[in-house]
Amino acid sequence: MTDGMKPGQPGEGGWQSGHDPADAAEPEGHGSPHRVIGTPPPAEARTMLAAQDTAPEHVRELPADPDDPVRAKKVERLVAAIFTLAFLAGCGFIASYVLFTGHTLVGVQHSNMALGGSLALVLLLLGIGTVIWVRHLMPAVELTEERHPLRSTEEERAEFKETFEEGAEASQFVKRPLLRRTLMLASLPLAAAPLVLLRDLGPLPHNDLDYTVWRKGLRLWVYGANRPISPAEFDTPGSVISIIPAGYQDDDDALAKAAVIIIKFRPGQLHFTKENHPVNDKVVENWTVDNIVAYSKICTHVGCPAALYEQTTHHILCPCHQSTFDATRGAKVIFGPAPRPLPQLPITVDAQGYLVAKGDFDQPVGPSFFERGSFPQ
Ligand code: FES
Repeated sequence: MTDGMKPGQPGEGGWQSGHDPADAAEPEGHGSPHRVIGTPPPAEARTMLAAQDTAPEHVRELPADPDDPVRAKKVERLVAAIFTLAFLAGCGFIASYVLFTGHTLVGVQHSNMALGGSLALVLLLLGIGTVIWVRHLMPAVELTEERHPLRSTEEERAEFKETFEEGAEASQFVKRPLLRRTLMLASLPLAAAPLVLLRDLGPLPHNDLDYTVWRKGLRLWVYGANRPISPAEFDTPGSVISIIPAGYQDDDDALAKAAVIIIKFRPGQLHFTKENHPVNDKVVENWTVDNIVAYSKICTHVGCPAALYEQTTHHILCPCHQSTFDATRGAKVIFGPAPRPLPQLPITVDAQGYLVAKGDFDQPVGPSFFERGSFPQ
């Protein structure tokens, strides 16, 4: 409080607060808003919530307008300009959603950047505009809502203590230490369980997700029969069969990533590129044998087995969320939420004429993960 000033006297900053009790003595006709100088009066005198017995002339009211209309107009225009920018950024958010498609990893990155950036801008501008509005146009009046004391009365506290002690006595918890201690012992593992579960946060997968067990010369085995297969045995166009890497029939971890389907096509049905690198809509020719192509069976959406094959359309379907891949075009996604084609496994035949892998997949199989960015899209 400023020396020599009493509560309710005009003070610095803030808007004059109408019928303050301190103003009650002012003569009629001097009631127009004026700036209050000095420390605000105590909360009781400044409360906006008049007690039931408060005389109507002592009920405080908020001032309707700032006392500098010219400055207020400038602030209004500034806030309006900021809100207009927020509107434009909001339109940008909608436009980003329409314009950026997320069918490739790069596309998803651009889409996320545009959506996140425009939305952040909207929220930031709305926040800035609102803060300026509140600070410069609204009255700076302290409001106090009087509440009853939170502490219970002495009688209530005594009653609670008595009830608690009666309950403790009746439960035998105090009298029977054997029961008490064994109960606490039984609860200990439950208390420690959350700590033990932290172990599931590790170890880090490192590059486990980047590779499968497929390697050069590893035979393709027929799933279930666990035997190799040759192109001569698999010569009916439209046939499809599930394949596992030879010798890994009991290794569920390996099979979870390395499961493959092979499909036999008629000459001319596959759309080839001869280049030995991955492309999204062409089968890599020198990764096929006699129009037999091998694709990962792990859906690139969230990893369900994509093994339903529609012979007439050459579509591979994932039953989980209906992603559909064109098997004649490098398992290109033609429908559904899968973001990428099913990776193609390079295959050839060995000296005995059986199908073997030429190496691992050229990219990680299955759903996306953060570190996947360095691989082909
Ligand atoms: S897991 Fe295949 S579409 Fe969702």
